[in-house]
Amino acid sequence: TAQYAVFGNPIAHSKSPEIHAQFAAQQGELIEYHKILVDDSRDAFQAAVRDFFASGGRGANVTVPFKQYAFDLVDELSERAQAAGAVNTLILLENGKLRGDNTDGVGLVNDVVGNLKISLQNKTILILGAGGAARGVVMPILSKQPEKVIIANRTESKAIELAKQFKIQAMAFADLRDIRVDVIVNATSGSLNGHLLAVDDAIFAGTELVYDMMYGRELTKFLCHARECGAQQVADGLGMLVGQAAESFRLWRGFTPDIAPVIAAMR
Ligand code: ATR
Repeated sequence: TAQYAVFGNPIAHSKSPEIHAQFAAQQGELIEYHKILVDDSRDAFQAAVRDFFASGGRGANVTVPFKQYAFDLVDELSERAQAAGAVNTLILLENGKLRGDNTDGVGLVNDVVGNLKISLQNKTILILGAGGAARGVVMPILSKQPEKVIIANRTESKAIELAKQFKIQAMAFADLRDIRVDVIVNATSGSLNGHLLAVDDAIFAGTELVYDMMYGRELTKFLCHARECGAQQVADGLGMLVGQAAESFRLWRGFTPDIAPVIAAMR
């Protein structure tokens, strides 16, 4: 059976093996997919990846905190991994070289457009946050021909830097007033500690979709708040998680899984 794995620290909580098992069942084939805990160091990560591919591994996912190390380690990069500055998918090529890709942004877009059925074409999209998670979604969002993409961050300088790379608009949270947006994507890590973001409540009113890359057992505080403030629809990041996995699976195995039943099963 073909061997796959996810490298992370921590990794015990990862749902990736379950998700990929369901994709394999859809494809009607057997795969092995393991969680690999690695010490939080560049050397330990490199050694673990080399070991895995030397002993028959075919592909791997990379999660926190190793996406940057994976970016530096691979022999070649996809355009979107280059744009994201991070690698979450490793693919062993036939010539023995290791290719790095990033499926996070496509995972989000496939969830929004394919699963939630919200078109991004001609829409105004507001991305909150300017870290690695935000960087990874900009190019896939732009590929859906939105009218405008705005990146806003608590620290404005980081938004300006990111916006320059992608030729989009930057704003500080404090200036998010009197603007009308259709879709808001929370790419900050602010939901992790349960804090609300310091953005004007009025930006949520009448939005078609507010999306949080985070997810949990319950709706995130950010999404509850967005709904109270008048968002028409809210969605958490479980669909993105399944979506990025589906794109990795496609890259490895040439089969595009249906994400909807897998998202439903994971709830
Ligand atoms: P990631 O890889 O998850 O994007 P990161 O690169 O450390 O992590 O970026 C974290 C992002 O979350 C940043 O945009 C950060 O804002 P600052 O640049 O102003 O620090 C944002 N963030 C984290 N906690 C936040 C909070 N409580 N309120 C607002 N933004 C927050």
